[in-house]
Formats: sequence, structure tokens, C-alpha cells
Amino acid sequence: MYNVRKVTEDITWVGASDRRLALFENIFPIHRGVSYNAYVLLDEKTVLLDTVDAGVAGQFFENLDYVLAERPLDYLVVNHMEPDHCAMIGDIVRRYPEVKIVGNVKTFGMLSQFFGTDYAERAVTVKEGDTLSCGTHTLHFVMAPMVHWPEAMVTYDDADKILFSADGFGSFGALNGNIFADEVDFDRDWLDDARRYYTNIVGKFGASVQGLLKKASGLEIAMICPLHGPIWRENLAYILDKYQKWSTYEPEDKAVVILYASMYGNTASAADALAGMLAAKGAGEIAVYDVSNTHVSELISEIFRVSHLVFAAPTYNSGIYPMMDNLLHDMKALSVQKKTAAIIENGTWASTAAKQMRAALAELKDVTVLDTQISIKSAMKREQAKELEALADEIVKSLNA
Ligand code: FEO
Repeated sequence: MYNVRKVTEDITWVGASDRRLALFENIFPIHRGVSYNAYVLLDEKTVLLDTVDAGVAGQFFENLDYVLAERPLDYLVVNHMEPDHCAMIGDIVRRYPEVKIVGNVKTFGMLSQFFGTDYAERAVTVKEGDTLSCGTHTLHFVMAPMVHWPEAMVTYDDADKILFSADGFGSFGALNGNIFADEVDFDRDWLDDARRYYTNIVGKFGASVQGLLKKASGLEIAMICPLHGPIWRENLAYILDKYQKWSTYEPEDKAVVILYASMYGNTASAADALAGMLAAKGAGEIAVYDVSNTHVSELISEIFRVSHLVFAAPTYNSGIYPMMDNLLHDMKALSVQKKTAAIIENGTWASTAAKQMRAALAELKDVTVLDTQISIKSAMKREQAKELEALADEIVKSLNA
């Protein structure tokens, strides 16, 4: 059965959701599924904006066939060549032999890499500022390199004032009939997944996102149609503000997240004790995570969200406990910046975790590590309560600064 929704009079959503896939990119758990959005413009010309992941091909083609209603497909615009969007290009060409493929020079290079052909006979190569007249709608092409791959571009429809934003403004989460952000409680039900999607997929490329936001600010945009998650047609300022913060690495909340690694519970106990002391001193909305039991993508999302971080971990094989080491590595890979951090280490002998965590954090831009740090020998003793209180005082002072 087809499942489509009109976005405007001439544009229809023909995407599909996958609630069976366990790991997006074979990395990220997606407990709420994921949608792959694609859009059809019916004008004097017919245009498909992007395809979908192979996992939802059947639903997508049923949708596309229904919306085209026997009309030929004139153009396929390829905004992004990652296979979660480009997987169906070969099938589109086989089903719609007249179709022309619209992309930039890099798009066709990647087409060749993925499909063994650059479809030169049907290629329409566009560059920044080029347009495609489709009748009453004219599509404008805006290059968006590294949001999220080098070939990425976005497409602006000047008739309906829609920005087809590729991965930009996307989110994990299946669409459940309500394809518009104003039809759901986005702040309650979607924001965490939108942040987790952004920070883990595009987080490294803040400068590139800033470049796209600057270009977008010159357009009159009534609607943002991303390739994942809900469409924005109201309160665009809300999501633009989030993107402004995320892409400049500014925290959303002045709050503390405590991230601990603990083999037998002793480091966890210290982390919880610190949380209690912070709360008693007035810190609110504290979050505590066991890095061994929380997927690193959720930790990264929370790290982007807040201003203050505490890292607590034992020494392991003369290094940092592996799960914490992996988190610190991921933080660097994703360009985490602008944080205040504190360190707690544990070790039964030859502790080196604090020194190594401090060195890892020193590699991040604009991350201040507090001088006060706690060293636990196997288990924290009552006599160390004063040290923990001092650390809590310093964190709260910094929070209130
Ligand atoms: Fe949703 Fe970069 O692909």
C-alpha cells in the first residue's frame, strides 16, 4: 500500500521509515527507527529529490509509482551520495529510462565509484547558483560540502520557498504519519534523537554547517525538508537556533554531566557521591552515565548539550579504561569544544588515568580542565570526602560564573 503525504500542492513526501534496522551506519542504535525522506515535485516536469536506503525500497517505489501516476520521471536530483539516500539510483534509471540525473561534479564522481558508471548520457551537472526550471517551480542548487560528505548540496524551490536540506536538520526516528515537526512534540519526543543524529553524523563539520547556515540566511525559507525525520514548516527559528549552537559547539544547557567507567563499582560510587554533593550545593539537572552501559553516541550527544563534564575512570593496562578511552577518542573525532571538565581517577597500583585523560582533553579546543582532581586508591575513603567537596565547590563556582 502506498504511504505518501502532500508537503505542498505540488510536492509530495514519498519516503519510508525503517523500524527493523538495529544500527544506522552499522554503528548507531536507533531504538525509534529512522526515516529516509524523498520528495516528488509534479510540475511541467516531474522531479524526484533523492532516493532512499535499500532497506525501504519496496515502500518507496510503491509511493513513487502512485504519485507519478503513469507520468514519466524527468529528473532525479541527487543532493547526497551516501547510500542511505542514493541506493536506489540504479533502479530509478532502470524503471524510468528517460530520467536525467542532476548533481555536481563530485556527485558524478561518487556515482561512478558506487555504481560503476557516472551516467554521463543522462547527467545534468550543476554548480553553485545554477537553476533548473521545472515549470512554475525553479530549483536552485546550493553546494553544502561536508554537510555531511564533500559532494553534498541542498536544493531550494523558489515557488514554495522550500529548502531541501539533505542531511542537514535531519533526525533519527521513524515518521509515524506525522511528517511535520509541528504535528509532534518535538522538544519532548524528538530533540534528543535530533541532537544525537547531528552531533554524531555531522558534529565534526561545524564550520561547514556554519557555511550552509550563512547561505540559507540569504534565502526566504518557509519550509525545511530534510532527508531524515520531520519536516519544518513552523517555528523554524527553534531548529535554526539549535543548529547555530551545535555547529558553534556552544552548550545548550549550563549543567553537569558525569561520565564514569567502573569495573567493580568503586569509581561509580565516587561519581554518585560527587553528583549528590553537586546537587546539595545547588546544581540542577545533573546527569550521570556509566560509559560501559551507554552507547557512545548518546554520550556524545549529552556532551554537546552541556557546559560541564566530569570524567571518572580507572587505569587499565597502563592506559585509560577502554570504554572511557574510546569516548575521549570519539570526542576528538567529533571536534567537541567549549567545555569545562574535571577528572577523577582510580587505580589499585600505578595510576596513570588522570594524566592520560588530562592529555586527551588538552587536545580539544577551548576545553578547560579544572586543576582540582581526585585520585582514588581502589575505593574512595570517607577521609576523601573533603577532596570531593572541594571539587564540587569548584564545579559549582564555575557553573555560576
Ligand atoms: Fe543520511 Fe549522510 O546520509
